Amino acid sequence: MKGPKIVYVCRECGKESPKWLGKCPDCGAWNSFDEEEIIEKPIKQGLNSGRSTNHEKAQKFSELELPTYMRTGTGMGELDRVLGGGLVDRSVVLLSGEPGIGKSTLLLQICSELSRTRKVLYVSGEESKGQLKMRAERLGIIGDSIYLLTETDVDAILDECSSLKPDVIIIDSIQTLSSMRFTSVPGSITQVRESAMALINYGKTNGSAVFLVGHVNKEGGISGPKVVEHMVDAVLYFEGERTNSYRIIRAIKNRFGSTNEIGVFEMGDKGLVEIPNPSELVMAERPKNTSGSCAGCVMQGSRPMISEIQALVAKSVYATGKRTSDGFDYNRMCLLIAVLEKRMGLKFYENDVYLNVAGGIRLDEPSADLSIAMALISGITDRVIPDNLIAFGELGLSGEVRAVSHIEYRVKEAIRLGFTKILLPEKNVTKSLKAPAGVQICGVSNIYQVLAHMLAKPN
Ligand code: TYD
Ligand code: MG
Repeated sequence: MKGPKIVYVCRECGKESPKWLGKCPDCGAWNSFDEEEIIEKPIKQGLNSGRSTNHEKAQKFSELELPTYMRTGTGMGELDRVLGGGLVDRSVVLLSGEPGIGKSTLLLQICSELSRTRKVLYVSGEESKGQLKMRAERLGIIGDSIYLLTETDVDAILDECSSLKPDVIIIDSIQTLSSMRFTSVPGSITQVRESAMALINYGKTNGSAVFLVGHVNKEGGISGPKVVEHMVDAVLYFEGERTNSYRIIRAIKNRFGSTNEIGVFEMGDKGLVEIPNPSELVMAERPKNTSGSCAGCVMQGSRPMISEIQALVAKSVYATGKRTSDGFDYNRMCLLIAVLEKRMGLKFYENDVYLNVAGGIRLDEPSADLSIAMALISGITDRVIPDNLIAFGELGLSGEVRAVSHIEYRVKEAIRLGFTKILLPEKNVTKSLKAPAGVQICGVSNIYQVLAHMLAKPN
């Protein structure tokens, strides 16, 4: 009799190989192949060699009906924003992040609100019922329609779902699940993929929304659940520093909304607290009268957000200066430094440069260029940029300042937070851009004009 089929699967990327390999040819990981047994379904003999005959017929696009998505608020506006306006019924969301970042806390917290209109099943394969009850008490989670199951066997979970018929299923976490139908260990690619597939199928056929929690490994990739990403409707990453209480949630993929939105939270004694106005948080922590600091405004999806750039420029003890960048693309920072060296003759090469975006926000928009260049100039010259000044604009290689989008939103947010001098690209200055009394809007077209504003006496 033929034995079970053995394949070797890369733990990092899911590449399958008929023989063991020391290095994965796809992702380059070393020693990442695990042996897995494949149980093949017997192929039915006869007509069409076992293929189903009642397959779907192709339909005309013009005859298709527009679907309507029912959304439910999770009680966390910041999470709703990232989901595209609430949790879509029947959708599958993968929430991933490093262990201890707050995934379980967030999902437990949304149970209360969801359970007001939906039956929620929280499945934990990591914590005991007692631990979860204690945490739920601390977080003030109440609701008569929240059910708890501590189970790791995916078939047992599906059985329970069939009898309970929950509207929302939360799986914490996908790496703890396994099925007796496969011989590989829990957390292996096959187990993660098949468990996720079974739950997704259940959700889609029975109309339940599913949240899958996935742990990220140290390297940043999701170990195992990477293969789940293409099966789900939305992939959310939960990020933050252990040493910092701020947490940011962002969508990497969203079939029902934009992927530009971010949600900001703070982890406290009573779980995660939303921060609907992150700009105010940045402003509250801003040091006064220090060189190397400049305020900017970036769009995070539909929301303008004030950011504070800090640049520490110090004499280097080595022949080539050291550069680090936290929260901004390293290569872009090097490019801006090169522009300032070439166009303004500033000697950054003799210095170490440490760039930091305060508050743990990542800037990946060209409009941040101007505030970064100004923080760098301020850092190297030790000239303080007035606290009331804010700048946004893209910087070109010849030192020209280029126009940016959403200018009205940015200006409004800057004015709301008390900035009275706003430097922005000359091309963005239009008649419709109105400033209230006491606020100066200054159009700049090159880096020399920016410098003139920096050197001008504050009024
Ligand atoms: P948790 O949600 O268990 O993380 P994950 O599921 O992503 O692994 O969060 C764990 C951390 O959060 C833990 O280190 C303790 C901290 N925490 C608080 O600071 N306050 C709270 O109210 C809770 C519930 C957790
Ligand atoms: Mg957890």
